Amino acid sequence: MISITSGALESADLLVVPVMSGRVAACSDEFTPDLDAIETLLDAKDFTGKKGQTLFVSTPGGPTPEMLLVGLGEEVDAEGLRRAAGTVTRTCRRYETVATTLHHVDIDDAASAVALGSWLGAYAFNEYKSDPKPIALTSVVLVDDEDLDDQIDTSAAIARGVVLARDLINRPAWDKAPAVIAQVCEDLSDEIEVTVYDEDQIAEAGFGGLQAVNLGADNPARMVVMRYSPEGATRTVAFVGKGIVFDSGGLSIKPAAGMETMKTDMAGAAAVMGAMQAIADLALVVNVIGITPFTENMTGGSALRPGDVMRAYNGKTMEVLNTDAEGRLVLADGLALAVEDEPDLVVDIATLTGACKVALGPLVGGLIAKDDEAADLVLNAAESAGEAMWRLPFVEDYRSMVESDIADMKNIGGRWGGAITAAIILSEFVGDTPWVHLDIAGPGRADKTEHYVFKGGSGFGVRTLVSVAEALSEEPS
Ligand code: BES
Ligand code: ZN
Ligand code: ZN
Repeated sequence: MISITSGALESADLLVVPVMSGRVAACSDEFTPDLDAIETLLDAKDFTGKKGQTLFVSTPGGPTPEMLLVGLGEEVDAEGLRRAAGTVTRTCRRYETVATTLHHVDIDDAASAVALGSWLGAYAFNEYKSDPKPIALTSVVLVDDEDLDDQIDTSAAIARGVVLARDLINRPAWDKAPAVIAQVCEDLSDEIEVTVYDEDQIAEAGFGGLQAVNLGADNPARMVVMRYSPEGATRTVAFVGKGIVFDSGGLSIKPAAGMETMKTDMAGAAAVMGAMQAIADLALVVNVIGITPFTENMTGGSALRPGDVMRAYNGKTMEVLNTDAEGRLVLADGLALAVEDEPDLVVDIATLTGACKVALGPLVGGLIAKDDEAADLVLNAAESAGEAMWRLPFVEDYRSMVESDIADMKNIGGRWGGAITAAIILSEFVGDTPWVHLDIAGPGRADKTEHYVFKGGSGFGVRTLVSVAEALSEEPS
């Protein structure tokens, strides 16, 4: 990651300043160019400072040869700042050093927003490129008299978590077989204790959903349990992430176009991994359990057949009528395992249903919960983290849609309300533990590049999960 620090404006290749309501909102003490002249120029260029507008101005003789004016709109919030900062680092990679006063706006934690946006916008996934586009950018300085290290450090931990998730999501399926990604979990942090169940241990423990989905794959499954247990923590939150490293649909096979992006079907597990790492880096005082079942959903000769019945870890049986509805099978085991520890809250996160993407579009995650208090906690956490989540109802009356003729339930509902019937199935595995389900089928993967987001794995969910852990954490003693 690039270096981000705070300090005085020394020489840099570019100075980035915010413009609000058509006026330069903050410049630096060391560098006061003729603002009147600049504002006349802004009028001439019809630069009103609306969100996303940018203008390069040559400033010979100043400490930076060029200045970039960035519009923040009439009213700025933290997410607006992250996006503005992300646009800068994404599009100004030809400059080696960038100084900025973007954080000189009147909102709380402006520096952490600028730092996070800058790091996320500086992302690149070049592992498989022989000749990647060169990136000159190495450092961003937030111009300030005050020491902003605390805010910057917090953002660094979160950015590392998001980058980890993006890298894993973008990695091709054949380079992230369950055993390989389980090893990544083991290597996350010394503060995180990791247990990995191999195929024999999965069978012995009774993780029947994970085993069922794995039947058609040559690569064996792994169930990973990560535990972060800092001293002094009294509350516990469990995160369960869907880790389908490739979803072909199984025998209920997907059409080719629908399969193209299905290496990203482990975005939920990636979010849990990124969040666990960030939470440990931040030394939050809360116990966190991360559970990530990993498998491919393939079509091999012993693949799960429509009509087969599996038995999950809590003993409940499910008739599998569509093998492409596989996420709920592996989450059934993950959730049943999570509630054994009696955590205060369980949050699952999954690229679970196309129906949720149809309902909310590509940028908004669906949140479903029976418990209003738990739902509000997670909605508020998402909002303060700057990730868009919208609550969908848990409709008890739809339970009849998943009744099976021969088992405790079937794995698909009817034609309508697919995101909700999926949640109804999951609810069978959480008992009375407060539980929130996040369906990130839309935002888990970005369809296009904009502000601090790049086409591909977005890392969506990492920030919300960290924010949930923050909400449940205690002051360090
Ligand atoms: N991984 C998919 C859901 C998905 C679709 C995620 C598009 C991201 C983008 C999931 O396993 C799936 O295929 N679900 C089926 C469920 C159906 C068979 C009940 C779906 O949504 O079509
Ligand atoms: Zn599927
Ligand atoms: Zn899937």
